[in-house]
Amino acid sequence: MIYNIALLKGDGIGPEIIDSAVKVLEKTAEKFGDKFNFKPYLIGGAAIDATGQPLPQETVDGCLESDSVLLGAVGGYKWDNLSGEQRPEKALLGIRSALGLFTNLRPAKLYPALRNASPLKDEVVGNGFDIMIVRELTGGIYFGDRGYRQGKYGTEAYDTEAYSVTEIERIGRVAFETAVKRNKKLCSVDKANVLETSRLWRKVMHGLSEEYPEVEYSDMFVDNAAMQLVRNPRQFDVIVTSNMFGDILSDEASQITGSIGMLASASIGGLGEKPLSCRNDSEGKAQINGVPPFKNLGSKISLYEPIHGSAPDIAGKDIANPIAAILSGAMMMRYSFGRNDIAECIENAVDKVLEKGYRTADIAEKDGEYIKCSEMTERIVEFL
Ligand code: IPM
Ligand code: MG
Repeated sequence: MIYNIALLKGDGIGPEIIDSAVKVLEKTAEKFGDKFNFKPYLIGGAAIDATGQPLPQETVDGCLESDSVLLGAVGGYKWDNLSGEQRPEKALLGIRSALGLFTNLRPAKLYPALRNASPLKDEVVGNGFDIMIVRELTGGIYFGDRGYRQGKYGTEAYDTEAYSVTEIERIGRVAFETAVKRNKKLCSVDKANVLETSRLWRKVMHGLSEEYPEVEYSDMFVDNAAMQLVRNPRQFDVIVTSNMFGDILSDEASQITGSIGMLASASIGGLGEKPLSCRNDSEGKAQINGVPPFKNLGSKISLYEPIHGSAPDIAGKDIANPIAAILSGAMMMRYSFGRNDIAECIENAVDKVLEKGYRTADIAEKDGEYIKCSEMTERIVEFL
C-alpha cells in the first residue's frame, strides 16, 4: 500500500523524534512491501518564524489532503511572550479542531523492563497496569469563551467551560466502545460535585451506560482520580474525561509508567464507521446522526502525536526519547490503516530494545548508562 503522511515536526525536540519515527516507518515499508510519501508542513513556532502564523492554511490543507498526520511537538521559550491567539500551542488546538479530532486516545501501560523507572512501589504496581485514557479533545474550557473584562476587583481574565449533550455523547460512545474491546470497565472522571458541565457529563454517561450493560461503569471525581492513579492504578481499564482533566491525568498516568517520553497518542474523529459530528456547525447544534455542514466532517484523517511537549531545554542535543513518537507511528498504522502487522512489529521492536537494557536518559537507572536519541532509533530499526 502507499500511504501519504503529513509530517508536522514543530519545535524543540519535535524534528528529532519525528525523524526517528520516519526512519522506523521507512524500515517497516521495506519489510512489508509498502511505501510512505512523507510531506512536511510547518506548525507552531517554526511556522510563526517562517510565515507569521502558528497554523498556516497550507498546513491545514496539507493535512486534509493526506491519509494521516504525524505530529512532533510545538512551543518554546522564544514564543512564550506572544498573546494567546499567536502562541504555537494555538496551532495544536487549531489543527485538532480543523480535523474534527474530538477523541484523544492515550494508552498508559507499564513495560515490565521499565519497572524501576516507575516511582510506584512494587506492591502498588503488582504485575503492571494497562490504562486507556479517552480524552475529549475539541471542546470544554480549551475552546470556550475567554478574554478580559472588568470584575469586582478590577481587570480580570476568564475562560469558560461548555459541553453540549452531543459532544459528551460522542466521546462517551467512543469510550464505551473502547471498553467493550478491552476489559469492559469504564470510569468517567468529572467534578460533578462542583461543576454544571460535569453534572451534564455524568447524566449523559449514565444514559449511555444503560446501552452498554456489559461494561462495568463507574464515576469518579477528578481529585479522587488523581489520587487513585498513584494509590492503585490497577483498578482502571478505560478512563473517559473532559479535555482539561484528560490533559492533566494523562501526564500523571505517563509518569507512573516511568516516563512521559514513552507515551503515544491518537487523535481521531471517532471510531471508523461511526458517524462523525463536530462543534461549530452552522446552527451550533451538530447531531450525531446528522450531516453537519462542516467541510472536514466525515474526514477519516487522524493525527498521531506523543503526549509530551517540545522540551526546549534538551532540543538539538540528541538526548530525547524517541519512543513516544515511534509508538505514535505504530498507533497510526493500527488506527488509520488497520495495519496491525506493522503496528505489532514496531511495538515488539520497542519491547525488545527495552528488554535488552537500552535506555535513553529519561528512563535510565540511577547512575545507569544511556544512549542517544539517534542510537535508540537505530537499535529499534535493527529489531524490526
Ligand atoms: C497535550 C499538551 C497540549 C494540550 C498543549 C501543548 C496545548 O499538553 O497534548 O497534552 O494541553 O493539549
Ligand atoms: Mg498535556
